[in-house]
Amino acid sequence: MELQQILFSQGFGTRRVCAGLVQQGLVSVAGQPCTDPSAEFDPQGLRYTVQGQAWTWHEKAYVLLHKPAGYECSQRPSAWPSVYTLLPAPLRQRPQRQGTPGVQAIGRLDQDTTGLLLLSDDGAFIHRLSSPRRQVPKVYLATVRHPIEDAMVQRLRDGVVLDDDPRPVRAAACERLDSHRLQLTLTEGKYHQVKRMVAAAGNRVEQLHRSRIGGLELPTDLAPGQWQWLAAADLERLQAG
Ligand code: URA
Repeated sequence: MELQQILFSQGFGTRRVCAGLVQQGLVSVAGQPCTDPSAEFDPQGLRYTVQGQAWTWHEKAYVLLHKPAGYECSQRPSAWPSVYTLLPAPLRQRPQRQGTPGVQAIGRLDQDTTGLLLLSDDGAFIHRLSSPRRQVPKVYLATVRHPIEDAMVQRLRDGVVLDDDPRPVRAAACERLDSHRLQLTLTEGKYHQVKRMVAAAGNRVEQLHRSRIGGLELPTDLAPGQWQWLAAADLERLQAG
């Protein structure tokens, strides 16, 4: 594939912008500067730098973000900055044949919720992970205002009724970690689900953090606001409960 096309496919701008980056000597491939936009390379696993920043070619983007509090998961946030501003421009600009360019968040976390957020530009992957039929388990840690009683944990396990649906929703698992902290596993993704379930069980969520999706844990060494590519093993862990 031509170098300018490689850069275009990874979100570095229009083909003309990508050709310009190469001609200006801003791109190196496998450690060597390359100023010919038409130079051919095998993109699989290709390592290159653009303006000194190292990249590896990815046919599709699968990334994990440690979402901090104070960010909205929308592309057009209403009151807080968007989580997309935490990602480098190429991830936000990757070309799509149809639909919005760049990676998209898979599901949403509230502005004040922290933790594991996945983003991708692979439509089929996004659809698989967000489909209610797949029931991918998601683990949340909730800090609540009032001391946690056994009856409350039991209500969350048995099911509580939320205001928009007469059918009870239950936590696939619910455990009290200490007097004010709960770990809940949910397999659905209703709006404000944890906060509404905890409220329906007579308490109030003060802080919420998502620690796991499927078998994939948020890495403990990834600081809030930081992101990383998902490796093939991470994608497999996601499929595992
Ligand atoms: N449930 C909530 O109430 N908020 C979130 O951000 C995620 C799950």
